[in-house]
Parts: sequence; structure tokens; C-alpha cells
Amino acid sequence: MENNQRHNDKAKQEQEHVDVVNGMKQGHGRIPKFLVFVYTFLGIWAVAYALGATPLDERETLAAGVSVEAGKGLAGSCLACHGADLSGGLGPSLIGTIGQLGEEEFENVMRNGRNTMPALGADWSEDQMGSMIEYLKTLE
Ligand code: HEC
Repeated sequence: MENNQRHNDKAKQEQEHVDVVNGMKQGHGRIPKFLVFVYTFLGIWAVAYALGATPLDERETLAAGVSVEAGKGLAGSCLACHGADLSGGLGPSLIGTIGQLGEEEFENVMRNGRNTMPALGADWSEDQMGSMIEYLKTLE
């Protein structure tokens, strides 16, 4: 009985503690258990995530690397002069060019340019240079 009474008192008390803000009832009840659980979980998750996450600058390195796809992307800036399929235009054909020049001389042309060939690869990373070479090899 007394228990019940106390329960009623509590319920009454909670009811009394209601403000009406912009027509909405805002109570001051206890934080629901599931919210405590959710926030605790989020807190733990956030710390674990922060500790385990790969920093952005490292992620870039992981995403890079040598790939034919990356080389194909870079080749977009060659088409205007070397032809849509790189078989020659204003500049010579690039099909078989790696085999003819060798990778070292190719890199030299890309980094330093040659006559009217601009030094398009002057600021390419090693990965980008490698990707361009791998892509051109697929054309041979
Ligand atoms: C502005 C025009 C132009 C663009 C853009 C251009 N090239 Fe060239 N490229 C030339 C010309 C012209 C030559 C011939 C240079 C010479 O006479 O020595 C050449 C020569 C080359 C050679 C030497 C070929 C050989 O057989 O000796 C390579 C390799 C080459 N280009 C690769 C590329 C790549 C890869 C790209 C794109 C990333 C590119 N070029 C973009 C104009 C261009």
C-alpha cells in the first residue's frame, strides 16, 4: 500500500514538473534508460573510432599506388596532342613508346619535356609516373 502511495506521489510530482513551451509539454523526468545506453555506447564508439581510424593523409597514400586506371586518367591530358587513342596526332604515337624509349627515358621526357612536348609529368609522384607507364604498356 505504502509503495503504491509513493508511486502515485512520484507520478504526481513528475506531472507537476511540466513546462509548456510553444504549446509543447516539456517535462523534467529522468533521462530514459535507453538514452543513457545510447549515449554511453556512442561515447565508447567515438573513442574506439578515434583510436582506430586511419588519418586522412595516410588514407591518401593507401588509395594511391600504381594502377592502370590511374594512368588512364592521367592520359586524358595527352589526347589533345597524341590523338584520341594515343596513336599519334600533333605528337608521335604513344603506342609502343615505353618499349622504344625505355621507362627511364620516358620518365625523362615526362618530367623535363622535349622540344614542343611539355613537361606534363614534372610534378607527378612516383606512383603517377608508374601508373602512366603501366597504362601505356597496355596499349602495346
Ligand atoms: C601540347 C601537346 C602535347 C601534349 C599535351 C602531350 N604531348 Fe607528348 N609530345 C608532344 C610532341 C609535339 C612530342 C614530340 C616531341 C619532340 O619532337 O621531341 C611529344 C613527345 C612525347 C613522347 C616521346 C615519344 C617518342 O617516341 O620519343 C612521349 C613519351 C610523350 N610525348 C608522352 C606524352 C604523355 C604521356 C602525355 C600526357 C600526359 C603527353 N605526351 C602530352 C606533344 C604533346
